[in-house]
Amino acid sequence: MRIGNLNIAGKVVCAPLAGISTPVFRLLARRMGAAVVYSEMVSTHGLVQKNKKTEEMLFFYPEESPVGIQIFGADPEVMFRSTQIVSKRNPDLIDLNFGCPVKKVVNKNGGAAVLKDLGLTKALVEAAVAGSSVPVTVKLRSGWDEYTKVFAEAGKVCEEAGASAITLHARTRSKLFSGTADWNDIKKLKETVTIPVIGNGDVTSGEEAARMLDETGCDAVMIGRGALGNPRIFAEINHFLDQGQPAADPTIDEKTTLIMDHARLLSDYDGEQRAMLRMRRIVGWYVKGWKDAAIIRRQVTTIATLDDLKSLLVDYKNGIMEDNQHAS
Ligand SMILES: Cc1cc2nc3c(=O)[nH]c(=O)nc-3n(C[C@H](O)[C@H](O)[C@H](O)COP(=O)(O)O)c2cc1C
Repeated sequence: MRIGNLNIAGKVVCAPLAGISTPVFRLLARRMGAAVVYSEMVSTHGLVQKNKKTEEMLFFYPEESPVGIQIFGADPEVMFRSTQIVSKRNPDLIDLNFGCPVKKVVNKNGGAAVLKDLGLTKALVEAAVAGSSVPVTVKLRSGWDEYTKVFAEAGKVCEEAGASAITLHARTRSKLFSGTADWNDIKKLKETVTIPVIGNGDVTSGEEAARMLDETGCDAVMIGRGALGNPRIFAEINHFLDQGQPAADPTIDEKTTLIMDHARLLSDYDGEQRAMLRMRRIVGWYVKGWKDAAIIRRQVTTIATLDDLKSLLVDYKNGIMEDNQHAS
Protein backbone atom coordinates (compact mmCIF):
# COMPACT_ATOMS: atom_id res chain seq x y z
CA MET A 1 0.00 0.00 0.00
CA ARG A 2 1.27 3.49 -0.84
CA ILE A 3 0.01 6.38 1.29
CA GLY A 4 1.19 9.56 -0.41
CA ASN A 5 4.96 9.20 -0.62
CA LEU A 6 5.00 6.44 2.04
CA ASN A 7 5.45 2.79 1.21
CA ILE A 8 3.62 0.67 3.77
CA ALA A 9 4.84 -2.90 4.08
CA GLY A 10 2.01 -5.10 5.32
CA LYS A 11 -1.75 -5.20 5.35
CA VAL A 12 -2.64 -5.00 9.04
CA VAL A 13 -2.69 -1.71 10.91
CA CYS A 14 -3.35 -0.84 14.54
CA ALA A 15 -6.34 1.42 15.23
CA PRO A 16 -6.30 4.67 17.17
CA LEU A 17 -7.87 3.91 20.57
CA ALA A 18 -8.44 6.75 23.02
CA GLY A 19 -6.91 6.05 26.41
CA ILE A 20 -5.23 2.93 25.07
CA SER A 21 -2.96 3.78 22.10
CA THR A 22 -0.03 4.92 24.24
CA PRO A 23 3.52 4.91 22.86
CA VAL A 24 4.11 1.56 24.64
CA PHE A 25 0.96 -0.04 23.21
CA ARG A 26 1.97 1.14 19.74
CA LEU A 27 5.56 0.00 20.14
CA LEU A 28 4.41 -3.51 21.03
CA ALA A 29 1.98 -3.51 18.09
CA ARG A 30 4.78 -2.51 15.69
CA ARG A 31 7.14 -5.12 17.11
CA MET A 32 4.43 -7.70 16.57
CA GLY A 33 4.01 -6.71 12.93
CA ALA A 34 1.43 -3.90 12.70
CA ALA A 35 2.21 -2.09 9.44
CA VAL A 36 1.18 1.34 10.79
CA VAL A 37 0.21 2.55 14.26
CA TYR A 38 -1.85 5.62 15.18
CA SER A 39 -1.95 7.81 18.24
CA GLU A 40 -5.24 8.22 20.04
CA MET A 41 -7.21 11.26 18.87
CA VAL A 42 -5.66 14.58 19.86
CA SER A 43 -7.69 17.79 20.18
CA THR A 44 -6.83 20.49 17.63
CA HIS A 45 -8.05 23.10 20.10
CA GLY A 46 -5.75 21.70 22.76
CA LEU A 47 -2.85 21.92 20.30
CA VAL A 48 -3.33 25.54 19.30
CA GLN A 49 -3.90 26.49 22.94
CA LYS A 50 -0.56 24.77 23.74
CA ASN A 51 -2.23 22.61 26.38
CA LYS A 52 0.57 20.64 28.07
CA LYS A 53 -1.34 17.37 28.33
CA THR A 54 -2.37 17.61 24.68
CA GLU A 55 1.21 18.25 23.61
CA GLU A 56 2.38 15.21 25.57
CA MET A 57 0.06 13.09 23.42
CA LEU A 58 2.26 13.86 20.41
CA PHE A 59 5.21 11.87 21.76
CA PHE A 60 6.20 8.72 19.90
CA TYR A 61 9.29 6.48 19.86
CA PRO A 62 11.36 6.53 16.62
CA GLU A 63 10.91 2.74 16.53
CA GLU A 64 7.13 3.18 16.09
CA SER A 65 7.53 4.54 12.58
CA PRO A 66 5.44 4.44 10.43
CA VAL A 67 3.26 6.22 12.95
CA GLY A 68 0.27 8.48 12.38
CA ILE A 69 -0.90 11.21 14.75
CA GLN A 70 -4.67 11.43 14.76
CA ILE A 71 -6.33 14.79 15.39
CA PHE A 72 -9.92 15.95 15.66
CA GLY A 73 -11.68 19.28 15.40
CA ALA A 74 -14.27 21.15 13.39
CA ASP A 75 -12.63 24.51 12.67
CA PRO A 76 -10.59 24.64 9.43
CA GLU A 77 -8.32 27.46 10.65
CA VAL A 78 -7.55 25.57 13.86
CA MET A 79 -7.06 22.41 11.80
CA PHE A 80 -4.53 24.20 9.58
CA ARG A 81 -2.51 25.46 12.55
CA SER A 82 -2.69 22.06 14.24
CA THR A 83 -1.27 20.20 11.28
CA GLN A 84 1.59 22.71 11.21
CA ILE A 85 2.24 21.99 14.90
CA VAL A 86 2.02 18.20 14.46
CA SER A 87 4.23 18.24 11.34
CA LYS A 88 7.09 19.68 13.43
CA ARG A 89 7.16 16.38 15.37
CA ASN A 90 7.83 14.48 12.12
CA PRO A 91 5.25 11.71 12.27
CA ASP A 92 4.85 9.67 9.08
CA LEU A 93 1.28 10.82 8.56
CA ILE A 94 -1.54 12.84 10.10
CA ASP A 95 -4.98 11.24 10.35
CA LEU A 96 -8.21 13.23 10.73
CA ASN A 97 -10.91 11.76 12.92
CA PHE A 98 -14.32 11.96 11.25
CA GLY A 99 -15.73 9.00 13.13
CA CYS A 100 -15.68 9.58 16.87
CA PRO A 101 -19.24 9.08 18.18
CA VAL A 102 -18.88 10.45 21.72
CA LYS A 103 -21.15 13.35 22.69
CA LYS A 104 -18.37 15.57 23.98
CA VAL A 105 -16.83 15.56 20.49
CA VAL A 106 -19.87 15.49 18.19
CA ASN A 107 -21.67 18.24 20.15
CA LYS A 108 -18.86 20.54 18.99
CA ASN A 109 -19.32 19.28 15.40
CA GLY A 110 -16.14 17.16 15.52
CA GLY A 111 -15.65 13.42 14.92
CA ALA A 112 -18.58 11.75 13.14
CA ALA A 113 -20.57 15.03 13.15
CA VAL A 114 -18.26 16.28 10.38
CA LEU A 115 -20.06 13.79 8.08
CA LYS A 116 -23.26 15.82 8.44
CA ASP A 117 -21.71 18.66 6.48
CA LEU A 118 -19.60 17.60 3.50
CA GLY A 119 -18.67 21.24 2.86
CA LEU A 120 -17.03 21.25 6.28
CA THR A 121 -15.43 17.86 5.57
CA LYS A 122 -13.83 19.31 2.43
CA ALA A 123 -12.67 22.48 4.19
CA LEU A 124 -11.10 20.48 7.04
CA VAL A 125 -9.18 18.15 4.73
CA GLU A 126 -7.99 21.04 2.55
CA ALA A 127 -6.85 22.97 5.61
CA ALA A 128 -5.03 19.93 7.00
CA VAL A 129 -3.29 19.21 3.71
CA ALA A 130 -2.23 22.86 3.41
CA GLY A 131 -0.73 22.88 6.91
CA SER A 132 0.85 19.43 6.88
CA SER A 133 4.25 18.41 5.57
CA VAL A 134 3.28 14.70 5.65
CA PRO A 135 0.44 12.76 3.98
CA VAL A 136 -2.99 13.41 5.48
CA THR A 137 -5.40 10.50 5.85
CA VAL A 138 -8.95 10.37 7.20
CA LYS A 139 -10.91 7.91 9.30
CA LEU A 140 -14.66 7.84 8.72
CA ARG A 141 -17.71 6.06 9.96
CA SER A 142 -20.27 5.02 7.35
CA GLY A 143 -22.46 8.03 8.13
CA TRP A 144 -24.41 9.64 10.91
CA ASP A 145 -27.23 7.08 10.86
CA GLU A 146 -28.68 4.39 8.59
CA TYR A 147 -30.59 7.04 6.55
CA THR A 148 -27.53 9.18 5.91
CA LYS A 149 -24.78 6.79 4.89
CA VAL A 150 -22.58 9.32 3.16
CA PHE A 151 -19.31 7.37 3.24
CA ALA A 152 -18.98 7.14 -0.56
CA GLU A 153 -19.65 10.83 -1.13
CA ALA A 154 -17.52 11.77 1.87
CA GLY A 155 -14.72 9.54 0.58
CA LYS A 156 -14.80 11.26 -2.80
CA VAL A 157 -14.79 14.68 -1.14
CA CYS A 158 -11.79 13.71 1.01
CA GLU A 159 -9.90 12.34 -1.98
CA GLU A 160 -10.52 15.49 -4.03
CA ALA A 161 -9.48 17.65 -1.07
CA GLY A 162 -6.11 15.89 -0.97
CA ALA A 163 -6.42 12.96 1.48
CA SER A 164 -3.94 10.16 0.77
CA ALA A 165 -5.92 7.24 2.26
CA ILE A 166 -9.24 6.56 3.96
CA THR A 167 -10.05 4.23 6.82
CA LEU A 168 -13.69 3.24 7.05
CA HIS A 169 -15.15 1.93 10.30
CA ALA A 170 -18.19 0.40 8.65
CA ARG A 171 -20.77 1.45 11.22
CA THR A 172 -22.87 4.59 11.46
CA ARG A 173 -22.49 6.95 14.40
CA SER A 174 -25.92 6.01 15.72
CA LYS A 175 -24.85 2.36 15.92
CA LEU A 176 -21.93 3.28 18.21
CA PHE A 177 -20.38 -0.19 18.64
CA SER A 178 -23.57 -2.28 18.42
CA GLY A 179 -24.49 -4.85 15.79
CA THR A 180 -21.99 -5.93 13.18
CA ALA A 181 -20.00 -3.69 10.87
CA ASP A 182 -21.33 -3.60 7.32
CA TRP A 183 -18.30 -4.60 5.26
CA ASN A 184 -20.27 -3.96 2.08
CA ASP A 185 -19.74 -0.24 2.77
CA ILE A 186 -15.98 -0.83 2.59
CA LYS A 187 -16.39 -2.57 -0.77
CA LYS A 188 -18.47 0.34 -2.11
CA LEU A 189 -15.95 2.90 -0.88
CA LYS A 190 -13.12 0.96 -2.51
CA GLU A 191 -15.05 1.07 -5.78
CA THR A 192 -15.56 4.85 -5.41
CA VAL A 193 -12.08 6.21 -4.67
CA THR A 194 -8.62 5.57 -6.09
CA ILE A 195 -6.62 6.26 -2.91
CA PRO A 196 -6.01 3.29 -0.54
CA VAL A 197 -8.92 2.16 1.61
CA ILE A 198 -8.31 0.59 5.01
CA GLY A 199 -11.23 -1.55 6.16
CA ASN A 200 -12.23 -1.56 9.82
CA GLY A 201 -14.80 -3.22 12.02
CA ASP A 202 -14.99 -6.47 13.96
CA VAL A 203 -11.81 -8.19 12.71
CA THR A 204 -10.27 -10.30 15.48
CA SER A 205 -8.48 -13.13 13.65
CA GLY A 206 -6.44 -14.01 10.59
CA GLU A 207 -9.42 -15.70 8.96
CA GLU A 208 -11.58 -12.58 9.38
CA ALA A 209 -8.81 -10.30 8.10
CA ALA A 210 -8.38 -12.46 5.01
CA ARG A 211 -12.14 -12.49 4.47
CA MET A 212 -12.40 -8.70 4.76
CA LEU A 213 -9.54 -8.21 2.27
CA ASP A 214 -11.11 -10.73 -0.07
CA GLU A 215 -14.75 -9.59 0.15
CA THR A 216 -14.15 -5.84 0.05
CA GLY A 217 -10.94 -5.48 -2.00
CA CYS A 218 -9.63 -3.08 0.66
CA ASP A 219 -5.89 -2.40 0.77
CA ALA A 220 -5.38 -3.11 4.46
CA VAL A 221 -7.31 -4.08 7.56
CA MET A 222 -7.37 -2.07 10.81
CA ILE A 223 -7.60 -3.82 14.17
CA GLY A 224 -8.98 -2.04 17.23
CA ARG A 225 -10.56 -3.93 20.10
CA GLY A 226 -8.94 -7.19 19.03
CA ALA A 227 -5.54 -5.75 19.96
CA LEU A 228 -6.45 -5.03 23.59
CA GLY A 229 -4.14 -7.17 25.71
CA ASN A 230 -3.30 -9.01 22.52
CA PRO A 231 -0.50 -7.37 20.53
CA ARG A 232 0.23 -10.83 19.10
CA ILE A 233 -2.85 -10.42 16.91
CA PHE A 234 -0.74 -8.59 14.32
CA ALA A 235 1.73 -11.48 14.08
CA GLU A 236 -1.14 -13.97 13.99
CA ILE A 237 -2.92 -12.17 11.15
CA ASN A 238 0.32 -11.74 9.18
CA HIS A 239 0.96 -15.46 9.65
CA PHE A 240 -2.49 -16.34 8.35
CA LEU A 241 -2.17 -14.00 5.36
CA ASP A 242 1.25 -15.51 4.51
CA GLN A 243 0.55 -19.17 5.23
CA GLY A 244 -3.21 -19.54 4.85
CA GLN A 245 -3.55 -21.18 8.26
CA PRO A 246 -3.73 -20.01 11.88
CA ALA A 247 -0.56 -19.64 13.94
CA ALA A 248 -0.09 -21.98 16.92
CA ASP A 249 -1.73 -20.78 20.14
CA PRO A 250 0.73 -18.98 22.43
CA THR A 251 2.04 -20.89 25.44
CA ILE A 252 1.47 -19.54 28.91
CA ASP A 253 5.17 -18.55 29.04
CA GLU A 254 4.80 -16.55 25.83
CA LYS A 255 1.72 -14.83 27.21
CA THR A 256 3.34 -13.93 30.53
CA THR A 257 6.50 -12.75 28.75
CA LEU A 258 4.36 -10.32 26.76
CA ILE A 259 2.75 -8.97 29.91
CA MET A 260 6.16 -8.45 31.51
CA ASP A 261 7.49 -6.77 28.33
CA HIS A 262 4.52 -4.43 28.43
CA ALA A 263 5.06 -3.69 32.12
CA ARG A 264 8.81 -3.05 31.70
CA LEU A 265 8.29 -0.71 28.74
CA LEU A 266 5.61 1.14 30.67
CA SER A 267 7.94 1.47 33.68
CA ASP A 268 10.66 2.94 31.45
CA TYR A 269 8.13 5.36 29.99
CA ASP A 270 6.19 6.38 33.07
CA GLY A 271 8.11 5.19 36.16
CA GLU A 272 7.49 1.89 37.95
CA GLN A 273 4.86 3.15 40.40
CA ARG A 274 2.56 4.74 37.83
CA ALA A 275 3.15 1.89 35.42
CA MET A 276 1.98 -0.68 37.96
CA LEU A 277 -1.20 1.30 38.55
CA ARG A 278 -1.85 1.31 34.83
CA MET A 279 -1.02 -2.39 34.56
CA ARG A 280 -4.08 -3.23 36.69
CA ARG A 281 -6.35 -2.42 33.77
CA ILE A 282 -3.95 -3.72 31.13
CA VAL A 283 -3.39 -7.10 32.79
CA GLY A 284 -7.19 -7.43 32.90
CA TRP A 285 -7.21 -7.32 29.10
CA TYR A 286 -4.33 -9.76 28.71
CA VAL A 287 -5.92 -12.42 30.90
CA LYS A 288 -9.33 -12.31 29.20
CA GLY A 289 -10.38 -15.90 28.67
CA TRP A 290 -7.68 -17.36 30.96
CA LYS A 291 -8.69 -19.94 33.54
CA ASP A 292 -9.29 -18.16 36.88
CA ALA A 293 -8.78 -14.75 35.26
CA ALA A 294 -10.86 -13.16 38.04
CA ILE A 295 -8.23 -14.19 40.61
CA ILE A 296 -5.43 -12.49 38.65
CA ARG A 297 -7.56 -9.40 38.15
CA ARG A 298 -8.14 -9.20 41.89
CA GLN A 299 -4.52 -9.85 42.84
CA VAL A 300 -3.08 -7.41 40.35
CA THR A 301 -4.71 -4.54 42.26
CA THR A 302 -2.19 -5.15 45.06
CA ILE A 303 1.03 -5.04 43.04
CA ALA A 304 3.47 -2.17 43.52
CA THR A 305 6.56 -3.31 41.60
CA LEU A 306 7.64 -5.25 38.52
CA ASP A 307 8.84 -8.02 40.85
CA ASP A 308 5.37 -8.25 42.42
CA LEU A 309 3.85 -8.65 38.97
CA LYS A 310 6.39 -11.29 38.02
CA SER A 311 5.69 -13.27 41.22
CA LEU A 312 1.96 -13.08 40.59
CA LEU A 313 2.38 -14.50 37.09
CA VAL A 314 4.79 -17.22 38.26
CA ASP A 315 2.38 -18.24 41.03
CA TYR A 316 -0.44 -18.34 38.50
CA LYS A 317 1.57 -20.53 36.16
CA ASN A 318 2.57 -22.89 38.97
CA GLY A 319 -1.04 -23.11 40.11
CA ILE A 320 -2.19 -24.01 36.60
CA MET A 321 0.52 -26.68 36.29
CA GLU A 322 -0.47 -28.18 39.65
CA ASP A 323 -4.13 -28.22 38.59
CA ASN A 324 -3.16 -29.97 35.38
CA GLN A 325 -1.15 -32.57 37.30
CA HIS A 326 -4.09 -33.27 39.60
CA ALA A 327 -6.40 -33.57 36.63
CA SER A 328 -4.17 -36.09 34.82
C1 LIG B 1 -11.93 2.38 23.70
C2 LIG B 1 -11.95 2.83 22.27
C3 LIG B 1 -11.33 4.02 21.94
C4 LIG B 1 -11.35 4.47 20.61
N1 LIG B 1 -10.70 5.62 20.29
C5 LIG B 1 -10.64 6.03 18.99
C6 LIG B 1 -9.90 7.18 18.61
O1 LIG B 1 -9.26 7.86 19.43
N2 LIG B 1 -9.91 7.53 17.30
C7 LIG B 1 -10.60 6.81 16.34
O2 LIG B 1 -10.57 7.16 15.17
N3 LIG B 1 -11.29 5.70 16.69
C8 LIG B 1 -11.31 5.30 17.96
N4 LIG B 1 -11.98 4.15 18.29
C9 LIG B 1 -12.56 3.34 17.22
C10 LIG B 1 -11.54 2.29 16.74
O3 LIG B 1 -10.41 2.91 16.18
C11 LIG B 1 -12.18 1.36 15.69
O4 LIG B 1 -12.61 2.13 14.61
C12 LIG B 1 -13.35 0.58 16.28
O5 LIG B 1 -13.03 0.05 17.54
C13 LIG B 1 -13.78 -0.56 15.33
O6 LIG B 1 -12.74 -1.46 15.13
P1 LIG B 1 -12.69 -2.90 15.91
O7 LIG B 1 -13.98 -3.59 15.60
O8 LIG B 1 -11.47 -3.58 15.32
O9 LIG B 1 -12.56 -2.58 17.36
C14 LIG B 1 -11.99 3.71 19.60
C15 LIG B 1 -12.62 2.52 19.96
C16 LIG B 1 -12.61 2.06 21.27
C17 LIG B 1 -13.25 0.77 21.61
